[in-house]
Amino acid sequence: MRTGSDDVIDRLTDWHRRLRAQFPIITANPGSAYLDSAATTQKPAAVLDAVTEFLTTTNANVGRGSYPWATSTTARIDAARERVRTALGDNTTGSSVEFVDGTSHGLRAVAQDWLADQLTDGDEIIVPFGDHEANLRPWLDLREQLALRGIRVSVLAMPVDASSGDYDHRALPSLVTARTRFVAVTHVHHVFGVDMNVHRVREVVGPDVPICLDAAQSVGHRPVSVADLDVDFVVFSGHKMLALPGVGAVWARNRRGPRFAPRGWEGTPNTAGIVSMAAAFDWLDAAGLAEIGAWTTALSARLTDGLARLPGVRVLGCQRSLTADSPVQRRESLVTFRHTAVRSDDLGFVLADEGIMVRADGHCQAGRESDDHAVRVSVHVYNTADEIDRVLAVVRRCEGMRS
Ligand SMILES: Cc1ncc(COP(=O)(O)O)c(C=O)c1O
Repeated sequence: MRTGSDDVIDRLTDWHRRLRAQFPIITANPGSAYLDSAATTQKPAAVLDAVTEFLTTTNANVGRGSYPWATSTTARIDAARERVRTALGDNTTGSSVEFVDGTSHGLRAVAQDWLADQLTDGDEIIVPFGDHEANLRPWLDLREQLALRGIRVSVLAMPVDASSGDYDHRALPSLVTARTRFVAVTHVHHVFGVDMNVHRVREVVGPDVPICLDAAQSVGHRPVSVADLDVDFVVFSGHKMLALPGVGAVWARNRRGPRFAPRGWEGTPNTAGIVSMAAAFDWLDAAGLAEIGAWTTALSARLTDGLARLPGVRVLGCQRSLTADSPVQRRESLVTFRHTAVRSDDLGFVLADEGIMVRADGHCQAGRESDDHAVRVSVHVYNTADEIDRVLAVVRRCEGMRS
């Protein structure tokens, strides 16, 4: 039976072929299927070329020196800051962009360099206890640090709807009080793959509470607009959006509270990484982020639907068939599952034997038991429907296996 996702894949096939050809590591390995993009993405030639061009023409330090290479580098970094702003659909005044090492570093900077000064004794914050560790540790550590100074802050767990993996927006209102000072959320869950509907969080917490968004799995995967989301911080990693590792950004609205400014001596930033991030945004824009979102959503719907037909397989999070135009909830570019007959680690090895690279472990999910493993298949623009079908074929064969 044909689905909406088949139509999307057919419509975008030629577009996709042109883009896939631009990833050197993909074209150099035709038999391999890289399906671990939620961990890190592959890079198009345009991004690699931009880095080479920078390092072989005007490489210098930023904000230091008045000779041409130095001023050129400073101008590039300033332009990259603007590039992040436009990429996030930011048309506000007063916002800022700080470059960081990645999402983990950025969330910690929001906690240490901004939130730490906003909280007083008896305040409450609401944060996700079942998302990525990177979006829980900084808030818990901050609570401990403040407690040492006699400031007691309650850290409340964002309620979750176990059947879908989405936040439970019906239970959230009972947590919001006059002492709620801050909320941390995730845009797209790195295990369940679902869009966490964070616009509803703003509706519940009201207009004054700052919201910090972990956008590691959404920026560079689909359009993300700070105008639509009305959040105060957007934090993401370059390496998950086709740029180099070791760089990321914190976008801050700077409206609900003082301006976000990293504390202390920052030192030399990752200039080559920042250049790569600007180039990646250019590439993503030219490719079409809406089409990339449609393509990756269609691939993950194909996988979800295919897995649902296999006995012994359980997809984590929402069980419904999340086709590209699902009115229920969008599944984005990743699907995580378990097989009742085969251990996830074994399944990961079986897939690797077939040249299929997926992640099979606990996925750095907060609150998960250390041996509670599952297989995650995550895609980006270079992946194909054929690669999804290869995964399904291997999982189907596992029926006869026992761990
Ligand atoms: C949702 C989410 N948040 C945060 C992170 C941490 O990102 P990084 O390792 O780039 O700091 C990840 C990484 O997988 C993630 O998926």
